[in-house]
Amino acid sequence: MSYELAHSTFGEDERNAMHRVIDSDMFSMGENVRAFEEQFAAFFGKKYAVMVNSGSSANLIAVASLFFKKENALKAGDEVIVPCISWATTFYPLHQYGLKLKFVDVDLNTLNYDIDELKKAVTPETKMIVTVSVLGNPCYYDEIDALCKANDIILFDDNCESMGAKYDGQYTGTHGLVNTFSTFFSHHISTMEGGLVVTDDHEIYCLARSLRNHGWTRDQDEGSPIYEKKNDDFFEAYRFILPGYNVRPGELQGALGLEQIKKLPGFIEQRRKNAAYFVEKFKDDKRFIIQQEVGESSWFSFTMIIAKDADITREQAFAALDKHDIKYRIITGGNFLEHDVIKYINHEVTKSDNASYAHNNGFFVGNAPVDLTESIDLLYTALNSL
Ligand SMILES: Cc1ncc(COP(=O)(O)O)c(C=O)c1O
Repeated sequence: MSYELAHSTFGEDERNAMHRVIDSDMFSMGENVRAFEEQFAAFFGKKYAVMVNSGSSANLIAVASLFFKKENALKAGDEVIVPCISWATTFYPLHQYGLKLKFVDVDLNTLNYDIDELKKAVTPETKMIVTVSVLGNPCYYDEIDALCKANDIILFDDNCESMGAKYDGQYTGTHGLVNTFSTFFSHHISTMEGGLVVTDDHEIYCLARSLRNHGWTRDQDEGSPIYEKKNDDFFEAYRFILPGYNVRPGELQGALGLEQIKKLPGFIEQRRKNAAYFVEKFKDDKRFIIQQEVGESSWFSFTMIIAKDADITREQAFAALDKHDIKYRIITGGNFLEHDVIKYINHEVTKSDNASYAHNNGFFVGNAPVDLTESIDLLYTALNSL
């Protein structure tokens, strides 16, 4: 047997949903996307969701929308705090809009912000904090929220790898002024490719809808606060108000989302069962630091970092995993500061020792909404052969 990084969650329901779209012969963004957005927002108890073609695009239009707000908008040169460990496209839109990134180290146990370091990093220059709950594990939102409120800082939650996790009973991806999700294949629900921006702010919602769709006014609701409708249908039909993009999803993605969102609670339950088994197996193995759960993680995967005083190396662990056909990979995107692309990014770093340690000594193995007992047993056997 092998232990894969990800599993497909598509079955009859998803295939039928795709066939319904094919039969309708209507593939570009329409009623399925709209219905999925409504159900997604309702599931997370938020007012609005805007679907796009990826989590990366969700980050892009969410950042963009903050630049076009009427009040307290971001502007080029503003400082934004980011964690050292996240995915590359958490950072790119921030850079592309001219923000200055301040990187803060992570806690080696939770893999999220080291809260003391985060507090130290905040200055009067800080305009926004980007939270990333790494691999399903919630950040300390209460402390970060309080920090933002006390200092008039925007909270942007990139929740692209943590759908379904909860902190203090509240879903991650709901704490920020803007929040983003990914529905890429290996994530908690899949629409093949896809992402969503989620907010309670009507202006941001309207901006995001225009920005995803050529920056035009065509699908603005009545009462949109971002433009004034004129009495001229000819020009109104093609009226451009923002320098936007075309990052629309298609109807196949919307239809898949409608099926998958119904299954999310069950998917999370199974992921959490697998996690309980993984933790049970490895909690006393002092050779590895495994991710310490905060709140209720939705366990994207299982991270393992070779402990500082362990008598094994990561290369030895990799060899054992290879021998047993167990797939593994870097933790999220690793420490972003160690990638070549950093030379293009306007940034400063307060400290990055833990992120660097995780980058060079850690890895993750997969989790999925299927029973992984046998796979975790295989992992246990492989690592105990060392
Ligand atoms: C934290 C984070 N942000 C953004 C993304 C980008 O999502 P997508 O792959 O859907 O573009 C990912 C992808 O895994 C992610 O983990």
